[in-house]
Amino acid sequence: MKKKRVAVLISGRGSNMQALVAAAQAPRFPAEIVTVISNRPDAPGLTWAKRKKLSAIALDHKAYRSRQSFELDLQQALETANVDLVALAGFMRLMTPGFVELWRDRMINIHPSLLPSFKGLHTHEQALEAGVKIAGCTVHFVRPEMDAGPIIAQAAVPVLDRDTPATLAARILKAEHVVYPTALALVASGKARCVGEKVVIDQKINVKNVLHSTVC
Ligand code: GRF
Repeated sequence: MKKKRVAVLISGRGSNMQALVAAAQAPRFPAEIVTVISNRPDAPGLTWAKRKKLSAIALDHKAYRSRQSFELDLQQALETANVDLVALAGFMRLMTPGFVELWRDRMINIHPSLLPSFKGLHTHEQALEAGVKIAGCTVHFVRPEMDAGPIIAQAAVPVLDRDTPATLAARILKAEHVVYPTALALVASGKARCVGEKVVIDQKINVKNVLHSTVC
C-alpha cells in the first residue's frame, strides 16, 4: 500500500514530531513525514527538522491579519506538499471550523490527558488538582471544539503522590511518544475509521505493548 503523506504541525519543542519521524523510518510504517510546519519560526522542533534535512516550514502566525489568511497559506503549503494527513503535535493555534472541516477525519491531534477529562491548558495541574490516580494521553481526530473529537488511541500512566505537574508531564510525554506513532499508523493504514463520532479499529492493536512500555 502507498504510504500516506503526513504533515506534522508544531509550535515548540517537537518531541512528538520527532517520535513520529523516528517511527516513520521503519520500512513498513504506513506513513511518511513529508513536511514539518511551525507557526513559530523559533520553535526548537523546526531547527531539529532542518538539521534532519526534512522539509521545515515556518509560517509565523503573527505576520497575518486574520486566522483565515494564516490558514490560506497553511492550506497552500499542505497542498504543495501533497499531504494526505495532518498530525498536530503541540500546535498551539486554534483552527477555524472551516479549516477543520476541510481536513475532517484527516487531521489528528495529541492531548496530554485522558479525554474527555482535562481539556485545554494546564492539563497536568488539572489532573493533580482533581486527585486522579491514573492520567494519560489521547490521540483523536480534530473537530472544531478544542480537544474534542473521535478518540483513536489512549495510554494510561499512574499518578504518584509525590508528583508535580512537571514529573507527571514527563511520565505522560513518554507515553505520548509511543501512542502517537501507534495511532498515526492505525489511521494511515485505514485500520482506524470514524463511524459516527467514534473510531472503530479494524485490527486488534497490541495494547499490552503500548501500555507496558508507557507505565514503566
Ligand atoms: C505535548 O504534551 C502534547 O500532548 C501537547 O503539547 C505537548 C507538545 O510537546 N499538545 P512536544 O512539542 O511534542 O515536545
